[in-house]
Amino acid sequence: MATSAKSSSTKAKSAKPRRTRRTGRRDPLAITLLKKDHREVEGWFDEYEQLEEEPEKLALFNKIALALKVHTRIEEEIFYPEERGEIEDDMLDEAYVEHDGAKKLIAEIEAMQPGDEFYDAKVKVLGEYIKHHVKEEEQPGGIFAQAKKGDEDLEAMGERLKARKEELMAELGGKQPN
Ligand SMILES: [Fe+2]
Ligand SMILES: [Fe+2]
Repeated sequence: MATSAKSSSTKAKSAKPRRTRRTGRRDPLAITLLKKDHREVEGWFDEYEQLEEEPEKLALFNKIALALKVHTRIEEEIFYPEERGEIEDDMLDEAYVEHDGAKKLIAEIEAMQPGDEFYDAKVKVLGEYIKHHVKEEEQPGGIFAQAKKGDEDLEAMGERLKARKEELMAELGGKQPN
């Protein structure tokens, strides 16, 4: 978010186009949406650190787990396969493996209760793991940067990511994990 612009200003004619900090260029929709998911879940991991009550911890972890399951699914179903060929194979392969690692850790945490030994530690390690993965996606020369240089229509893909996310939120969000 721009720090100086007053978004609520009545003089603003229209919403500011999306721009990246590094290049000043607008991010295509697919990248904007995936980055937004990243920021959201990072915020929740920070929030988790402040919690002391077990029911609150469980509720927030469930929110994190759902968001991560949906995000990894839309990347694996749409973004990664469609970007195969645009992004270095090794980098993309590692991203799938990192998703699998995160999913295993999420399943372990879901099988536990917030009062259990290592519960908080596992949530913390999951957060660090996700932070590392997000860096691989967002860093200069990383997955998103390579995708932006490619030929895929990332605006159209963004619409599909958005629609699939909504479906999966309804499908997976309707179920209680425990
Ligand atoms: Fe991602
Ligand atoms: Fe990812």
